[in-house]
Amino acid sequence: MRIGVLTGGGDCPGLNAVIRAVVRKGVSVYGHEFVGFRDGWRGPLEGETMPLDIQAVRGILPRGGTILGSSRTNPIKIEGGVDRIKENLAATNVDALIAIGGEDTLGVAKQLYDRGVNVVGVPKTIDNDLSGTDYTFGFDTAVNIAMEAIDRLHTTAESHHRALICEVMGRHAGWIALHAGMAGGANVILIPEKPFDIDRVCEYVESRFRTRYSPIIVVAEGAHPMEGQMELQAGELDAFGHVRLGGIGEVLAKEIEKRTGKEARTTVLGHIQRGGTPTAFDRVLATRFGLQAIDAAHEGDYGKMVALRGTEMIRVGLDVATAELKTVPVSRYAESEVFFG
Ligand code: F6P
Repeated sequence: MRIGVLTGGGDCPGLNAVIRAVVRKGVSVYGHEFVGFRDGWRGPLEGETMPLDIQAVRGILPRGGTILGSSRTNPIKIEGGVDRIKENLAATNVDALIAIGGEDTLGVAKQLYDRGVNVVGVPKTIDNDLSGTDYTFGFDTAVNIAMEAIDRLHTTAESHHRALICEVMGRHAGWIALHAGMAGGANVILIPEKPFDIDRVCEYVESRFRTRYSPIIVVAEGAHPMEGQMELQAGELDAFGHVRLGGIGEVLAKEIEKRTGKEARTTVLGHIQRGGTPTAFDRVLATRFGLQAIDAAHEGDYGKMVALRGTEMIRVGLDVATAELKTVPVSRYAESEVFFG
């Protein structure tokens, strides 16, 4: 078989580990050939490929980013996009495609599968918001980066008696904020799933100052106040219609300063959470996903996404994976609330 591989959407640590596992097992166990498609769906759309053999994947296990490049190109939005992809797959003699991506990339994979393309999906995203899998790779690394930042913020907050706000990514899911905030001992964690009450947040801040300890507030980029409390500006949309988030930390700092009279400053972690080397957990998860994906492609089990259930590798339909976002359940958030204030 000749198998195409692509990585789409926002990059994350562990993509290279998946590519390596797919190619290593595909070549050495099954004798398949591979072709890399560059920059997500742009590769098959424009027929842009790169060689992908064992030599090409040597040494990439610990490297962040993706040797294939990525983009947020949405072929479904481009006229004739799906047909162009099918033509280019045929022209490069590709029998099956392994698409490594999040909600958007796998949403396209699902539509291509419905139109006759042999595709297997691998779940990637720091946001951990894909249904059908307990974890996506990249999440653990992002959480560890955010946790280390929070640890560092604690010491400087203490020295200056400031409230420090740490804004983390995660889009419309609060997983990164919840896990990093719990691991880092945040004073309060704000997530998109539960609109926050700014009066309550200020009470937590003041109570922490009363104990002569400085508050650290972890806010997810998608968090928002209860209706009518504070004005927020809407961001631009990307090719998949997602609004570009970010900025809630700054708004929050101003409001806390205004209401409590205490100095409040914000650190936006941004793409630092997506860069650099993956944790051991993510390297192992990504490697196991890669091994499972090449098995699925070899068996012709298309239209599936490989997934983690407990400690086992399973496969779920791409429709299950992309039907709805996996957000933080109320009960999980409630566990963290015990430590607020
Ligand atoms: O989905 C991963 C993610 O990092 C989100 O947490 C964030 O909202 C978004 O991508 C940022 O995307 P970009 O790098 O394209 O601005």
